Amino acid sequence: MKIVVTGGLGFIGSHTVVELQNQGFDVVAVDNLSNSSITVLDGIAKITGTKPLFENIDLRDKAVVHDFFKRHNDTVGVIHFAASKAVGESVENPLLYYENNINALVYVLQELTALPQANFIFSSSCTVYGQAETMPITEDASIQPAISPYGNTKQIGEEIITDTAKATHLNSILLRYFNPIGAHSSAIIGELPIGVPQNLVPFITQTAMGLREKLSVFGNDYPTPDGTCIRDYIHVVDLAKAHVVALQRLLTKQNAAKVETFNLGTGTGSSVLEVIQAFEKVSGQKLNYQIVARREGDITAAYANTDKANQVLGWKAETSLEEALASAWQWEQKIRS
Ligand code: NAD
Ligand code: WQD
Repeated sequence: MKIVVTGGLGFIGSHTVVELQNQGFDVVAVDNLSNSSITVLDGIAKITGTKPLFENIDLRDKAVVHDFFKRHNDTVGVIHFAASKAVGESVENPLLYYENNINALVYVLQELTALPQANFIFSSSCTVYGQAETMPITEDASIQPAISPYGNTKQIGEEIITDTAKATHLNSILLRYFNPIGAHSSAIIGELPIGVPQNLVPFITQTAMGLREKLSVFGNDYPTPDGTCIRDYIHVVDLAKAHVVALQRLLTKQNAAKVETFNLGTGTGSSVLEVIQAFEKVSGQKLNYQIVARREGDITAAYANTDKANQVLGWKAETSLEEALASAWQWEQKIRS
């Protein structure tokens, strides 16, 4: 069964390609390498023993997307990771984000809905909840006005998919990720942030490695037990496995509605200081960090209620925060060696 994975050489996409191949799916990975490296393809092949088909194409080009699906008209499902994801950059260059995250989505959906089987998994984000009123966050928590153009593209993306499913034979699962971290246990694939990392865990591992002088902890005056923000850090392989389960649900027509939404998190919130402590424990490194002012746009806390994913998908995150951080550290050491 042919599955197209857009953004298939990216952080979450590459780990998902591995899990799909492990389950016997025939994968075509698509990526324009705007935020990934072609070497990831060999990494996937090394882990699974099979090099997936790969096409270096830009999904912002409607004609190219049309041509791609003409050649792959036996596709039975698409997992759509391809997007730009830097929140700050989206504030500075909103049109880049609307073009990449919306136009590409529309073009892929246009082609997919022209095929007999239109199963679609979408990378959404907990960012759609903004600062939710109650924790842990359930899927029926209200969607808050987006703080950034990036966040807005996820909300608009969910709406585009919902409208399309109403009008066509599209079936879709929207997966709202909390904070994905870590790397494959082989340390052959992992996260490859370009430039200065914006996310906490790559900043921590790069600091421990000596690439950054110190980590800035953005604020310790939040209304949380230790004053630092709380997030739900989920290991990327757990996340990848959820995509396979979600896809199988669509392929076997077990979905209860044409569009279903699931939170993907661990269900446990960890503060920034708890992440630092856990990292120090697993790495044996003392981390150089300093408390600084809050970062604009940060919410106090976000962690998932995962009951729906646990019960309906039969999926549960299995990796602890310490294991996930250990894998991130192993990966960082490997790529710098
Ligand atoms: P990533 O940047 O590592 O992967 C995205 C991949 O898509 C990259 O390899 C990039 O080169 C490719 N790509 C981008 N635009 C493209 C285009 N026009 N044509 C073809 N390829 C294109 O990001 P990731 O962390 O793996 O995120 C995957 C998805 O999950 C994104 O949609 C992101 O918004 C979403 N998401 C990520 C996080 C996170 O913290 N990592 C959290 C929630 C949601
Ligand atoms: C985590 C915590 C920071 C860096 C972002 C996007 C979100 C989603 C995931 C895609 C926060 C603190 C961070 C640092 C720090 N992506 N921090 N020093 O902000 O929860 O979410 O990535 O959908 O949309 O906004 O993740 O890793 O940036 O931050 O103190 O150098 O670590 O303040 O509390 P965030 P993050």
